[in-house]
Amino acid sequence: MTLRQAQDERVDAQLAGGSSGPARHVAIIMDGNGRWAKKRLLPRAVGHKRGVDAVREVVRAARHMGLEALTLYAFSSENWKRPEDEISDLMGLLRAFIRSDIEEFAANDVRLKIIGDYKVLPPDIVKLIEDALARTAHNSRTTLAVALNYGSQQEIARAAAAAAAKGAVTVAAIEAELDTADLPPLDLLIRTSGEVRLSNFLLWQAAYAEMWFTDVLWPDFTPGHLREALDHFATRERRYGGR
Ligand code: IPE
Ligand code: IPE
Ligand code: MG
Repeated sequence: MTLRQAQDERVDAQLAGGSSGPARHVAIIMDGNGRWAKKRLLPRAVGHKRGVDAVREVVRAARHMGLEALTLYAFSSENWKRPEDEISDLMGLLRAFIRSDIEEFAANDVRLKIIGDYKVLPPDIVKLIEDALARTAHNSRTTLAVALNYGSQQEIARAAAAAAAKGAVTVAAIEAELDTADLPPLDLLIRTSGEVRLSNFLLWQAAYAEMWFTDVLWPDFTPGHLREALDHFATRERRYGGR
């Protein structure tokens, strides 16, 4: 979808209000890998590894369920506060994931997108990402947007500055500069592991998103859980401030 179409649809959806049909864009804060491992007396790295397995299944499910976009919070701009060995485990898993799964994305019409400032990641990962972006750029069935070194406040500040540089700072002008500008409006935001907070994720985009919080820890999250959240979404009446 072009930027213009995405913006028009966002405005249309807000004007229309009421029931909004099937979800097009779902985002997930994939939390609880550490607690999953701790419960089993396993190293945190094992929790993260099982978390990647859950990602693979959920991406497949999103594709089969006809979602246009799935945005996954993989590494926040605040996650650099973690110990070095955990960061290096996470980078290792990211490297392995891109290598092992890019083929499946390419073959199944999945477009990879990154939100956040991924360019400060280790250079070999930046190269893998850029190759993967180029390889899947023309795919159009489902967009998998992975948030890497992502912080929503930073994104909004950057977008506002870009809008100011071009002229008026309006809602539409900021929206057009967000990392998600080419995605459909966010319909449903899921967070696993029982935490009920946004942790600097998609603050702007969540303005009228439905929220689904579950105690399930991310490595245990299955396509069935995604189905459950989408079924709940289907029962919601979205009013966008109208009545
Ligand atoms: C989410 O799991 C993965 C990342 C933040 C990268 P956590 O590592 O935050 O797991 P908990 O919250 O400690 O259980
Ligand atoms: C949010 O989880 C970030 C990701 C899932 C990548 P955190 O575990 O970092 O969030 P807080 O620190 O509990 O808010
Ligand atoms: Mg956590």
